[in-house]
Amino acid sequence: MTRYPVIDFHSHILPKIDDGSKSTAMSLEMLQRMKNYGCDLVVSTSHYYRKNEEISDFLERRTASYRHLCTRIREEPEWNVPSIALGSEVAFFFGIETDEDLGKLCIGDTDILLLEMPFAPWSVYEFNAVSALCYDRRFRVILAHYERFAEFQKGNEIYDRILELPVIVQINAESLQSKFGWNSKRWIRMFEEGRAQLLGTDAHNLTSRAPNLDLAREILRSKVSGDILARIDEFGFRLLADGAHKR
Ligand SMILES: [Fe+2]
Repeated sequence: MTRYPVIDFHSHILPKIDDGSKSTAMSLEMLQRMKNYGCDLVVSTSHYYRKNEEISDFLERRTASYRHLCTRIREEPEWNVPSIALGSEVAFFFGIETDEDLGKLCIGDTDILLLEMPFAPWSVYEFNAVSALCYDRRFRVILAHYERFAEFQKGNEIYDRILELPVIVQINAESLQSKFGWNSKRWIRMFEEGRAQLLGTDAHNLTSRAPNLDLAREILRSKVSGDILARIDEFGFRLLADGAHKR
């Protein structure tokens, strides 16, 4: 059976670019932890907030941070770290669906956009904007940590309806842990039913939001019948492969 790479689709491993890693040393330790538990590829998804800066300025900062990190990795050949794909976590903003430069925030040279929806009740406006991103702009939209918005969407049908769009659902690894209560079962069930497709650690540091993909994978392996991990790995691999060179 083909073994597909283990991919972490959501992380803040670049040093000093957002509220994630605070230093190159921290980034390196995060990456080493990821590699130690078997992560082959980590998608670096630094926060992008339109209200704070232009896309070009963000990309400049991201390139500088990434280059600095890569230089340090090359200096210590014994460090064993996953491959890194550069992306961003784009916070939803007014007019996002018509922003001409949005494609520059996709993962690598793909058409895959990790979108962070508002931490507030979603309306038809947000629904239509995401719809336009999918159908008009032809982005492949990953909804970042879909589960984290549940508490803001109680009784809001848009929260369910948005899944009728051709979006991809990413769930944070920590949300599958039972310490988060009955909801963890809900998100595990989404994987079981194929309504969630991707896992990400959303790792920000080494303590409160540490890399923990291994825990989530073990939970899924033990609680979901069939080879759920192989399904997730194959989906992620094919997504990146099919989305390459689309821009
Ligand atoms: Fe994040």
